[in-house]
Amino acid sequence: MFNSKFRGRDFITILDYTKSEVEQILDFADELKRKFKRGQPHKYLEDRTLFMIFYNQSLRTRNSFEAGMTQLGGHAHFLDPSKIYMPALEGEEVAYSTERISDVARVLDRMGHGLAIRMYGDPVGWINGKANRVVREFAHWAEHIPVINMECDIYHPCQGMADIMTVREHFGTFRGVKFVMSWAYSPSVHKPLSVPHSAIIAAATVGCDVVLAHPEGLELDDDVLAATEKRAKESGGSFEISNDMEEAFKGAHVVYPKAWTSKHFLPPIASEPLLDKTQEVFDANKHWLCDEAKLKLAADNVKYMHCLPCDRGYEVTDAVIDGPHSVVFDEAENRMHVQKAVMSLQMD
Ligand code: CP
Repeated sequence: MFNSKFRGRDFITILDYTKSEVEQILDFADELKRKFKRGQPHKYLEDRTLFMIFYNQSLRTRNSFEAGMTQLGGHAHFLDPSKIYMPALEGEEVAYSTERISDVARVLDRMGHGLAIRMYGDPVGWINGKANRVVREFAHWAEHIPVINMECDIYHPCQGMADIMTVREHFGTFRGVKFVMSWAYSPSVHKPLSVPHSAIIAAATVGCDVVLAHPEGLELDDDVLAATEKRAKESGGSFEISNDMEEAFKGAHVVYPKAWTSKHFLPPIASEPLLDKTQEVFDANKHWLCDEAKLKLAADNVKYMHCLPCDRGYEVTDAVIDGPHSVVFDEAENRMHVQKAVMSLQMD
């Protein structure tokens, strides 16, 4: 299974991987899931260390990487940036409390076998794209080991992979699957665009019929939209954008309603983060809620998806997320299996 074309490669965005490579990762994740369920040993990363730097909170990502590395025979090492010297970009160092990323990356590069970073939002002052720059800076300096993006402000590739793994488990195919990534209301505007970006890229890469639905003012990144369009054309899928949640839900096989913030009120488009302006856009769209009535517009076998954590009572009703169409815990579980596949292939 192990193929040298994966070894040492970073995992920052699914756009760095071809459709065939994405499918190979999914196939291997399926195999690892079967082995996990049967209790078959699969210690492909014995004595390997993954360093994980979390600038933000996490339940799923931290625990899926830690448990996954243990099952692979290695160790995932949790690093709280406030308990090391906060890794900082050149020119942003503060004496005594930070360390330049180029130095942090080169030190960890000498000691371990992989480096994973989570960073978005507050740690970069909601400057959209800056956290992605930080992840790429780590990748530039960690010359001998792969860097895995555990969610930045542009991409959440591990989530996107788990999402499509879950789709394939439930439908057995991507062909003809209408995959609707929809904005949904949340009282919090502190939501990066990374999950919807990676979800539409992943679904388009493997050939789903992707529909992106959102109110006006909540558009995704132009480059991501162009890349999704291109991937859909290449894969034989399709890509459409709608400003009508109910219209988008009609006939859907997958609905993925989730809040994300407005790029228009964040730098570099705005001169400073204007989260109160975003709040006004959010508050005007409280009816973008996934409830049982909207789910009835979809296909009979529709699956409700969410990366979690979700805002119950706002993005989705309890009846939907706890109901028979919900596959959110499959999605959460698949984070572990797909990340084990990525780590095994890259860190072997
Ligand atoms: N979906 C996801 O990344 O969850 P966490 O924020 O809990 O890691």
